[in-house]
Amino acid sequence: MPSLVNSEVELAVKGFLIDQEKMVEVVERMGKELKMGLAKDTHPRAVIKCFVSYVQDLPTGKERGKFLALDLGGTNFRVLIVNLVSSSDVQIISKSYNFPPALMTGPGKALFDFLAESLEEFCKEQGLEDTPLSLGFTFSFPCQQQGLSKAILVTWTKGFSCEGVVGKNVVSLLQEAIDRRGNLKITNIVVINDTVGTLMSCAYNHPNCRIGLIVGTGSNACYVEKTVNAECFEGYQTSPKPSMVINCEWGAFGDNGVLEFVRTSYDRVVDKITPNPGKQTFEKCISGMYMGELVRLVVIEMISKNLMFVGDNSEKLQQRWSFKTSYISDIESDAPGEYRHCSRVLHDLGMMGTQETDKEALRFICEAVSSRSAKLCACGLVTLINKMNINEVIIGIDGSVYRYHPKYHELLQFHMKKLLKPGLKFELVVSEDGSGRGAALVAATAAQNKPK
Ligand code: GLC
Repeated sequence: MPSLVNSEVELAVKGFLIDQEKMVEVVERMGKELKMGLAKDTHPRAVIKCFVSYVQDLPTGKERGKFLALDLGGTNFRVLIVNLVSSSDVQIISKSYNFPPALMTGPGKALFDFLAESLEEFCKEQGLEDTPLSLGFTFSFPCQQQGLSKAILVTWTKGFSCEGVVGKNVVSLLQEAIDRRGNLKITNIVVINDTVGTLMSCAYNHPNCRIGLIVGTGSNACYVEKTVNAECFEGYQTSPKPSMVINCEWGAFGDNGVLEFVRTSYDRVVDKITPNPGKQTFEKCISGMYMGELVRLVVIEMISKNLMFVGDNSEKLQQRWSFKTSYISDIESDAPGEYRHCSRVLHDLGMMGTQETDKEALRFICEAVSSRSAKLCACGLVTLINKMNINEVIIGIDGSVYRYHPKYHELLQFHMKKLLKPGLKFELVVSEDGSGRGAALVAATAAQNKPK
């Protein structure tokens, strides 16, 4: 323990420090929940839903063509045109749209109208309004899929709560919004989760890729299961194709109380102030939407007890969500004994931060929260690898936490090695633009599979 850190601070973050024994227990419990999600009779009451994605073909590297893609579910909304020229040449033009925050909680119709309007504007700019094109829709929320073009939204996550969408097929809602405008020639829409896009995009260049992981605003993973085990797929016993990609929706792990032994009082506060209390328990311990708030809650408690930043101005920090998760990555980017990034963060928050002990304590709190996130994610990945029972696997990963946190990759790798059986080989690979490239690849495969 760093000597500059007050023992009261150490005590406060103790609950975030989960040991190997607890991690083994998490893997064990998650394995059980995963099986419940897959099996038909237990699926309705399972918390990890293991939704069937209807993606059965991994890319061969031979997919070609031009596809539109929409990406909804992270911090940005994007429209893309993806040209699969060859496996080493994928040309992407994309545009991020300023997503008015009110759309996240307003009526669903307004949300889909906005998507259609942005799509149309983009196609006009690219001179594509008269070109018939297929579209890959990356819609990163829990959906019960009934086909590649039919996804029923089960519940909103990550701060969205638009009315009139839960229980509906989001492809129809998008198609109707496009038709209301009547200016585009979209031939076919396929819908995928961002984890599936991440897997597909990585598998395009790495044929051994079997898992797609997102650690960004939210957290979730998908993996390649044997079709015969995907009991919720109506063709699980008859399908000629051996594999089915499963969208785990692992963010909901713990919604039935099985994760209480790794949660803290801070987690319970965060949960209460979210629009979906009691839901997405695992995600709320792991992902970017919540990590900053966890750190903030610890810090303001220390401030209220006069244990940190005594006499400093914490007015901004007292506001909910004011401590961004990107600050954690910044603060942990400082070399030991240096506080350049940390000072900038404090400046952003209108604080002086004159005491080295305070900055050290702040880093200590950040490390506690981010390490727990990486440990839990490692547990999740190990659960999936155990389930697939394979000896070599590549994991495609995307998301702001994984990309920008300076130690996340090392932490994941370190803890996975400690949990996996010796000799098992795995590689963590950043997956480029899953929501664009991945969506285009699924659209391309769907076009190939269509009866001529
Ligand atoms: C949330 C969504 C899930 C998505 C993940 C990462 O957990 O429910 O569908 O994959 O965030 O964006």
